[in-house]
Amino acid sequence: MSRHNTTRPDRGEAPDLLARFRDVYPHGKGSVFMARAPGRVNLIGEHTDYNEGFVLPVAVDREVRVLGQRRPDDRVVIYSANFDRRASFELDALGLTTRQSWINYPQGVADALQRAGHHLAGANIVMWGNVPLGAGMSSSAAVEIACLLLFTTLAGLRLSPRDDALLARQAENNFVGVQTGIMDQFIARLGVAGHALLLDCRSLAYALIPLDLPGIALGVVHSGVPRGLAGSKYNERREECAEGVRLLQQVLPHIRALRDVQPAEFALVEERLPEVIRQRCRHIVTEDARVGEAAEALRAGDVARLGDLFARSQASMRDDYAITVSAIDTLVEVALAHGSVASRMTGGGFGGCTVNLVPEERWDAFTRGVMTEYPRVTGRTPTIYRCRAVDGASVEQIA
Ligand code: GLA
Repeated sequence: MSRHNTTRPDRGEAPDLLARFRDVYPHGKGSVFMARAPGRVNLIGEHTDYNEGFVLPVAVDREVRVLGQRRPDDRVVIYSANFDRRASFELDALGLTTRQSWINYPQGVADALQRAGHHLAGANIVMWGNVPLGAGMSSSAAVEIACLLLFTTLAGLRLSPRDDALLARQAENNFVGVQTGIMDQFIARLGVAGHALLLDCRSLAYALIPLDLPGIALGVVHSGVPRGLAGSKYNERREECAEGVRLLQQVLPHIRALRDVQPAEFALVEERLPEVIRQRCRHIVTEDARVGEAAEALRAGDVARLGDLFARSQASMRDDYAITVSAIDTLVEVALAHGSVASRMTGGGFGGCTVNLVPEERWDAFTRGVMTEYPRVTGRTPTIYRCRAVDGASVEQIA
């Protein structure tokens, strides 16, 4: 994987956030801290995390930054530099809002921390990010992790990185209301530059695998399809998996989650399941096996094998899990026809992005091909991000 950082016009460079902070809060006093957390792209292992299985994500060089300073009261005021909007909440009166929904993520984090017994301080905050919103690159997990690091730092707390990830996930599950797994918050917090992270979502044990494929670029392409109904469809898939576990336990009493079912074993019992539940379970069981194979292929630098595994994952998400949409299927086909050697949808689905491995010498042809062919067939405009694997979240005092 090439390590150089290509600066592209679509990189969304950060404005001078400290200057913005001083403008927005001219009377604030005391130290200013900045927390940052990256977006992510998942190489393979889709919807396996909440089935206690395996995932292989990478933290990428698009990020959320939050600057904050303590206030003397219990109020949290947040200015979004992206939306040029200000919103606030009281730490002792948190409540989901539909009016400025972006503030639900910081509220959810404050809620999770307080429920865990931590005492937080009021704060003045400026938030900014260049992780594309609703694209399947986990902008929400980046917001959650960055806010969590800022809140804990301002309160003089220091939790373990694993606890940070678990609490940020609670914000999403219990406050925002999407029953996501642990993948996004975990990689946003614990990612390491130049590496993919193979995570066991049951034990939270992980291994770092160098993302070192010479001459290969990591390309993420946004389909331009917004993920409107993603939340409810996501929760529906989760329930279908739980139903699958309940039914399978009648013949496989030892299983606790789909993670415990091996593909060969599944093939012997799948006929007992109603068709839709069978398809959903088949995706999870086979996808888990593909994650293990992909980790091996990545360690061996075997790009052709990765391409094959991506193709099987894509077919499984399309035919069994039914989370791709036709524009995404087209985007994968177009990418493969124009130089990508491995392409699949990444993230929660129902729109969003594809992840691609593209030989350097074909990068220009790839971008040209995708930018012309995909809109011609679908009428949608793609956005291409060339990504590097970066470190997970951090926090520092900046003033
Ligand atoms: C979203 C969720 C993750 C994971 C993926 C699908 O990104 O937040 O927990 O389930 O979808 O793999």
